[in-house]
Amino acid sequence: MTSSELWSRETADRYDAEEAENSSPAALRPALDFLARLAGDGRALEFAIGTGRVGVPLRERGVPVTGIELSEPMADVLRTKADEETLPVVIGDMTTTVVPGEFTLVYLVYNTIANLLTQDEQVACFENAARHLVPGGRFVVELNVPPLRFLPPGQIAVPFDVSDRHLGFDTFDLVDQQLVSHHFTRDGEDGRYRRGSCRQRYIWPAELDLMARIAGLELEQRVADWDGSPFTDDSPRHISVWRKPVG
Ligand SMILES: C[S@@+](CC[C@H](N)C(=O)[O-])C[C@H]1O[C@@H](n2cnc3c(N)ncnc32)[C@H](O)[C@@H]1O
Repeated sequence: MTSSELWSRETADRYDAEEAENSSPAALRPALDFLARLAGDGRALEFAIGTGRVGVPLRERGVPVTGIELSEPMADVLRTKADEETLPVVIGDMTTTVVPGEFTLVYLVYNTIANLLTQDEQVACFENAARHLVPGGRFVVELNVPPLRFLPPGQIAVPFDVSDRHLGFDTFDLVDQQLVSHHFTRDGEDGRYRRGSCRQRYIWPAELDLMARIAGLELEQRVADWDGSPFTDDSPRHISVWRKPVG
């Protein structure tokens, strides 16, 4: 039983259109270069592969990719782009689902580790990644730094997007380390906004490193983006790479 919210058919049908800007070849190229380099001659496993925004083009670059995905509707959309033989997907929870074979790379992008709402499950996710890796293999996570520096005392909300089509803000529960991302999206031209929300457990980089240690992985690299820019005080997100020791 997972704490993750189940992504619905409606969300799945809208996903690619809503993520079009972050799905173009130009937007994805740095991530694909980064991931293909780490996969080397081996196989890659994407946790929470969704509609294949990253997995499908990585497969097209020649990297054998397998996916684990909780939502059948999301995987159904992926299936319109790649068949089972080209890109196998197992429906299941990324904390517990085991797929056949060994991988040089396991990756989990787009803040999705935060969809696991408990610390125990986030640790289990690291352990499941480690379970699938060959010695020397890597686990890559792309995640926002919790934006708590933008939360003034006494407030509970931080806006992250204020544009004509979309209003987005996070609300925080600092005691339980939870946030809810709220989205108000203008659908048509009639001025109506559709409301959506997504619960997450936010995580600091240092806590991730401890989870990795529990899973027997070592931090190899932390950068601010897929181009490899240095991670600094002001970086809003990070790409972190942990390695399974050899021997
Ligand atoms: C933001 S989307 C990311 C999809 C894809 N990785 C991408 O980059 O476009 C989050 C995905 O995580 C999946 N997900 C959430 N919790 C999960 C879990 N516990 N195990 C497997 N997949 C999960 C959702 O169903 C959804 O498809």
